[in-house]
Amino acid sequence: MNFAVLASGNGTNLQAIIKAIKAKQIKASLKVVLSDKSGAFALERARKAGVPCVVNLAPEQYLTREAFDQAMLDVLKKEEIDFVVLAGYMRILSPLFIEAYRHKILNIHPSLLPAFKGSHAIKDAFQFGVKVTGVTVHFVDEQVDHGVIIAQSAVEIGPNDTFDMLVEKVHEAEHKLYPYAINLFIRGKIKAPVVKAVPPVTGQHR
Ligand code: GRF
Repeated sequence: MNFAVLASGNGTNLQAIIKAIKAKQIKASLKVVLSDKSGAFALERARKAGVPCVVNLAPEQYLTREAFDQAMLDVLKKEEIDFVVLAGYMRILSPLFIEAYRHKILNIHPSLLPAFKGSHAIKDAFQFGVKVTGVTVHFVDEQVDHGVIIAQSAVEIGPNDTFDMLVEKVHEAEHKLYPYAINLFIRGKIKAPVVKAVPPVTGQHR
């Protein structure tokens, strides 16, 4: 199987994925690393690791979100990509892209979803004062930080933990969970989810 990683930033999750490929924990080919940010360090990491196709696309050069996503899809099609891994990719994907890779796009989010959605999840969890937070790998659907959950890992927040300590713990958990979840997906251990409607409760109930 061939896969692509989409990243906008530092790329520590990408690095963990590259390491897992080398260790044969992930048995698939990372063919493409694509970024919407020219300065993303993830691009550097990809080049250094010898990823065959490293691409930076500039969103401002496209008239619409769909046009930008279509340009990404063109790259993915050309490189015969089977599934897509989001690793700190900060743009919301259009329905066009999601439909093209339905149940084949994975994302990692730094909280125990459905708690603390959004781009400040670690900070929000810390400020809320929860004692346990964590990380989630899920399929991407049309809603942000939503979609069927593939794997989760809990992170405890100790009474003396600072925010920086928590950030470090969460990232450490991510770097373990993402390769594990990708491996489950590759091995076909996660079936395309069938979401059953819950029948309405009838009769007397409280
Ligand atoms: C991670 O915390 C991930 O959960 C979130 O974005 C961050 C990306 O970090 N979606 P990195 O670029 O992989 O270092």
